[in-house]
Amino acid sequence: MYKVEIEKLNYFAIGIGKIDGKIIFIPKTLKGDIVLVKIVKENKNYLEGRVVEYIKKIKRVGHCPYSDICGGCPLIDMNYDDQLELKKEEIKDLFKRNLGLDIRLNDVLHDEQYHYRNKITLHVKNNKLGYYQEKSNNLVEIDKCVIAKKEINEEIDNLKKLIKKYDIKDIIIRCHDKKLLSITGNVPKQVLLDAFLFCDNIYLNNVPIKDGYITDNILGNTFRISLHSFFQVNTKVCSKIFDKVISYIANKDYKKVLDLYCGTGIISIIIAKYVGEVVGVEVVRDAVEDACYNKKINNVSNVSFICDKVENRIDEFKNIDLTIIDPPRSGLDKKSVKTILEMNTKDIIYISCNPITLVRDLKELSNKYNVEDIFIADMFPNTYHVESICFLKAK
Ligand SMILES: C[S@@+](CC[C@H](N)C(=O)[O-])C[C@H]1O[C@@H](n2cnc3c(N)ncnc32)[C@H](O)[C@@H]1O
Repeated sequence: MYKVEIEKLNYFAIGIGKIDGKIIFIPKTLKGDIVLVKIVKENKNYLEGRVVEYIKKIKRVGHCPYSDICGGCPLIDMNYDDQLELKKEEIKDLFKRNLGLDIRLNDVLHDEQYHYRNKITLHVKNNKLGYYQEKSNNLVEIDKCVIAKKEINEEIDNLKKLIKKYDIKDIIIRCHDKKLLSITGNVPKQVLLDAFLFCDNIYLNNVPIKDGYITDNILGNTFRISLHSFFQVNTKVCSKIFDKVISYIANKDYKKVLDLYCGTGIISIIIAKYVGEVVGVEVVRDAVEDACYNKKINNVSNVSFICDKVENRIDEFKNIDLTIIDPPRSGLDKKSVKTILEMNTKDIIYISCNPITLVRDLKELSNKYNVEDIFIADMFPNTYHVESICFLKAK
């Protein structure tokens, strides 16, 4: 057993200390903790450890009873200002180590620390309802979730009663102007309709049994959201991000803009009035249908959407002034990076929810582009995730 002081946290919110000069990673610790650890794995350049005892435990501020076992919010015990500072330092460090860039970051855009998530997915196992522990299928039973919107938590009691009587597997709840509920399992349709009077849109095994779309509002525009369409989980922070993205675009006179990975068309629609024309590309059909509907209800005419994979269509575009890239966590595929480099788009805005793939892609793009500006936003408080937005200009 070794006594270790935690010097800092890494990108995945795992504590880092040293034993005889060798780095050791210790989960469930915070900077300043002094712990007795057991080494659980020895790698060539680093060790992995497990806390046996806290000799000095710095004050935890979190309000979640499941934080130790759930794993979804590894930073929840940390003071919120320190969380923001940690995310800032991590991004600076990643840019320095991978791109050799000393970036300046202003304050992290943020909003509420708790009750921000507009969507949760719950599972059922052995008559218990909860989340899967991170990276496993072990169920952590919950009564409420402190990062989910309060209106989502209000449905949990009802769901607990339901799973005792019926064979239910998975549950999705989305909450925007109204609530959407999706249940996978074996339960009579009428039971759901009677039990969830406050849900306006209900699906049973992916089939709508109570019609009615949910919508949200971003910067004065209304967006319809279907069950399988992607929508940013934190609407308030998302609005702040897109407001800042507009400041990169307004007064630039971009004629042709590409919005890659466009989801329900949010970015295309909010920037439409500042540019000549926008083409959005998105693979999920329901999201593209939402995008086309959203274009109509927001009275936008200079936007069109293509339903396909970006990598299948990227080489069709010529004379693009601005390419907006907002990919999933995996980032850009090799073909898309290569084609974007050949397309000679003047400017690029890269919005990323995974800084590891962001710096990987920026390394390639830096052959032709400079990072002119960057800001980060805390879309996912209490988790290690961070949203980064980069404005790139052709060299
Ligand atoms: C991070 S979301 C961004 C959505 C949108 N920009 C927004 O802010 O709502 C990524 C989107 O990419 C879509 N997607 C994932 N892989 C794709 C691919 N290979 N080609 C096109 N779209 C893809 C997902 O369905 C999702 O809607």
